[in-house]
Amino acid sequence: MNCIKVALTKGRLEKNAINIFEKIGVNCDELINKGRKLILKSSNSNIEFILIKAVDVLTYVERGVVDIGIVGKDTLMEYNRQLYEVVDLKVGKCKFALASIPNFSIKEGFNRKKIATKYPNVAREYFKGKGQDIEIIKMEGSVELAPLVGLADAIIDIVETGNTLKENGLIVFEDICSISARMIVNKNSIKIKKKEITEIIEKVEGCVENF
Ligand code: PRP
Repeated sequence: MNCIKVALTKGRLEKNAINIFEKIGVNCDELINKGRKLILKSSNSNIEFILIKAVDVLTYVERGVVDIGIVGKDTLMEYNRQLYEVVDLKVGKCKFALASIPNFSIKEGFNRKKIATKYPNVAREYFKGKGQDIEIIKMEGSVELAPLVGLADAIIDIVETGNTLKENGLIVFEDICSISARMIVNKNSIKIKKKEITEIIEKVEGCVENF
């Protein structure tokens, strides 16, 4: 039986992903009690997990070092990679939105608007679609700070509960699109390990139908 390697995204999607694998009968005890260990084995299956940052999930899956990945649609949209997106897991639901301080207007004034974001490609595409010329300021985190301190006019970011915006006095000006976690697969793995991977996909599809 082939070993199936799975990369999970650390952080907000972690629990949801573990929950799905447990629901399809994969023992995740080592993953739950991982400590500082980086490769986590399942005691009752041929699955081996690694837990890494979202964009690294894409890299590991694209290069075939792992077979399957769990990652947010936001990361898939930002980084155009060669891999198959196979299941919408219907968890980790959030949205991309344009947000700023209440008196912001994208059209007001003649200056080129500055947009802070962790997702420059998503932001570029969005404004290109609107025919608006903007300047992108790439951030690594706490994007909501940018319009508050005058670094940017507005932000494009993911909004989940909306609490971060609310607590910082920002409002959504436009919802861009919905986001959720996705299962992705390496293009060769699906051929070489067809039986094992198809079985996992089918079980996961059956499990997420009930969400
Ligand atoms: C994300 C996002 C927002 C926040 C939205 O940041 O960039 O800041 O979560 O969530 P909410 O609508 O539930 O408040 P994350 O927590 O990943 O941290 P970061 O700012 O360090 O990137």
